Amino acid sequence: MQAALSVEKLTKKFGEFTAVNGVSFDVEDGKFFSILGPSGCGKTTLLRMIAGFYEPTEGLIRIRDEDMTAVEPNKRPVNLVFQHLALFPMMNVYENIAFGLKRRRESDSRIKEKVGSILERVGLPEHSKKKIDQLSGGQKQRIAIARCLVLEPSVLLLDEPLGALDAKLREHMKIELKKLQSMVGTTFVYITHDQSEAMVMSDHVAVMNAGQFEQIGTPQDLYHNPNSSFVAQFVGNNNKLPVKVHKDEGGAFLARYLDGKDYQVDGTPDLSEGDEYDMFIRPEAVLINPSTSQSIPNTMNCDVKAILFDGGNSQLLVIPEGADQELIVTLPQNKQFDDIKAKDTIRIGWNPGTAVCFPKTELKIYDEA
Ligand SMILES: Nc1ncnc2c1ncn2[C@@H]1O[C@H](COP(=O)(O)OP(=O)(O)O)[C@@H](O)[C@H]1O
Ligand SMILES: [Mg+2]
Repeated sequence: MQAALSVEKLTKKFGEFTAVNGVSFDVEDGKFFSILGPSGCGKTTLLRMIAGFYEPTEGLIRIRDEDMTAVEPNKRPVNLVFQHLALFPMMNVYENIAFGLKRRRESDSRIKEKVGSILERVGLPEHSKKKIDQLSGGQKQRIAIARCLVLEPSVLLLDEPLGALDAKLREHMKIELKKLQSMVGTTFVYITHDQSEAMVMSDHVAVMNAGQFEQIGTPQDLYHNPNSSFVAQFVGNNNKLPVKVHKDEGGAFLARYLDGKDYQVDGTPDLSEGDEYDMFIRPEAVLINPSTSQSIPNTMNCDVKAILFDGGNSQLLVIPEGADQELIVTLPQNKQFDDIKAKDTIRIGWNPGTAVCFPKTELKIYDEA
């Protein structure tokens, strides 16, 4: 499969400060690739280098096997969709979309054909005469993307394009965007600080932290097999239990938690005795009141602090006995758990294989939402 975009050891320094640090990745033709990371980690800088607005300090960018080093931004086969859509308010929808084609001096008949076809593809065929301020937020979004797609870029770059929309429209648009991308088949490189956007839409996601890629994988890979504490915390919900590892008489590792008790750990092969780790357990891996027939080796008593009812996404907030820490437990919606109330004491448990440990790190993970 041909790579639509190939980036090799890309670095950008602003004076002494390294904003992007040795990033490498390939995006296959026709795929939806996201770069996910907290605000300030270097996402926009990376995208601007690909678009040609910043010159890399080091590294190589190839689009469809062509080295982009000497290629001017306006000659690159890429288009950039910004958070603030920058549609022309004085022009109608048709004129907005036709703008780039006119600049390329395409014939009126070709322009008409192309604009008609792209409006069809983004699901707004009846809107060509509308003014921009007559469109809803979601429609503006689609027009902004149509205006780029009509130029038939090899790669469409999107810089947090849903950032300006309200939460409800964002939920809707992330599904729309995914459908749109699979319909048009253009390669998308999408940057966001919102893990759920990245997970829902993408074929592959790169998790970025402080100028570097921590991990690249499918959403499922990142969720089930994070390779660092950062990825475990940033992708999906997770419980982070501080533990110290030691060995039992048989040589098996045990994790001592804040409650002073020991728990089995199977999920991580190379632990070292005496070290401190963060042990991660997904909320849905936690079993409520496991029966003895399930033979779950790791169990603890907890006080129920709150029930966060949200239909199929309901959760319990619990505090383990002897530990001053809140844990999240997925609350399955079968009637079995209906009588659990705040202040109850329940037993929770998990299989050692579902917990994973990473060396203890003090990470600040914040969200700009
Ligand atoms: N032109 C610039 N000059 C100096 N520093 C910059 C410039 N552009 C970005 N930075 C810095 O680089 C870092 C990454 O910024 P940016 O790529 O915009 O992050 P993100 O898009 O992930 O929020 C930030 O610390 C930012 O202040
Ligand atoms: Mg940015």
